[in-house]
Amino acid sequence: MTKHLKVLIASNDLPVSGVKLLQEHFTVVQNRFSYYGDDEKVQSQEECLKLVPGCSAIVWASSHSITDELLDKAGPNLKIVATASAGYNHCNVDGLKARGIKLTNTPGVLSAAVAEIAITLMLVTARRFTEWLQQVESGKWVNGLDKYLGQDIRGSTVGIVGFGGIGQATAKRLAGFEVARIIYSGHREKPEGKALGAQLVPQDDLFQQSDFIILSAPLTNETRHMINRSTLGKMKKNAIIINVGRGDLIDQEALYEALKNNDIYAAGLDVTTPEPLPADHKLLKLPNVFVTPHIGSGTERTRNEMAILAAKNVINALTGKSLITPVLP
Ligand code: DGY
Repeated sequence: MTKHLKVLIASNDLPVSGVKLLQEHFTVVQNRFSYYGDDEKVQSQEECLKLVPGCSAIVWASSHSITDELLDKAGPNLKIVATASAGYNHCNVDGLKARGIKLTNTPGVLSAAVAEIAITLMLVTARRFTEWLQQVESGKWVNGLDKYLGQDIRGSTVGIVGFGGIGQATAKRLAGFEVARIIYSGHREKPEGKALGAQLVPQDDLFQQSDFIILSAPLTNETRHMINRSTLGKMKKNAIIINVGRGDLIDQEALYEALKNNDIYAAGLDVTTPEPLPADHKLLKLPNVFVTPHIGSGTERTRNEMAILAAKNVINALTGKSLITPVLP
């Protein structure tokens, strides 16, 4: 029996499927407030601090940082933090390690959904949706064979930075687009690369040769601002950058300059810094940018699978079984 163990769900938006599964095994306490929007952020943090003492597990479903204060308040019962996300840059890995607390994430189950958004952003930026939709909405739509031209995906070189689950799922989905080459960068060749027709290249070669650069890498000290003035300067004039990883992979100021000066063709961003991006942000004024509100994993099926995987990791951790998707075993 594990009902005496207390589990904190640290936000009010974890899909019910995950909540129910946890309730079958544990005493669940759940934050009533949202981390998003200015109204409830402080209340949400205070509620977590109030609920966490004595908890054996925390399910985290927000991109806000897990603080040392929260981990200290939890006390010695805390065995595991399960984040319902693939990325764990916000999870205070050092703080968890120092306290001997396990960490799990939810890779794999979201790869297809995020890859679909990567492909969507390739299409809408290559075909200049931001500009053309403005023409439609403002009544300036004029037909003509020389009007509304964009770029092809067919025949292009697609460079994928971060050839893990999401990068590979994106390569798989590109199979029908008749691209000329798929290249990827990374520390080592991935065994899956060959079957996907993808070739490992040095990162500089990827920046120089790609027509599309897809960022699906985790955010680490090594990858932070990997897209900066210097790397942007290596890219082709027609290069399109797609970011489905984390906003901080890109130095946004440098990206803004490059887009404004047409040093590159366009950018499609599902992640930005900050999130939400303020409505008056200068990036949103550019015609060659298309921004979506971090919806990569945002399908009902995928979010349910993420919640269930996070819950199963907690169940395994608290019943002495192996973690399914460990970050800190
Ligand atoms: C992830 O899982 O890291 C995604 O960005 C969340 O949507």
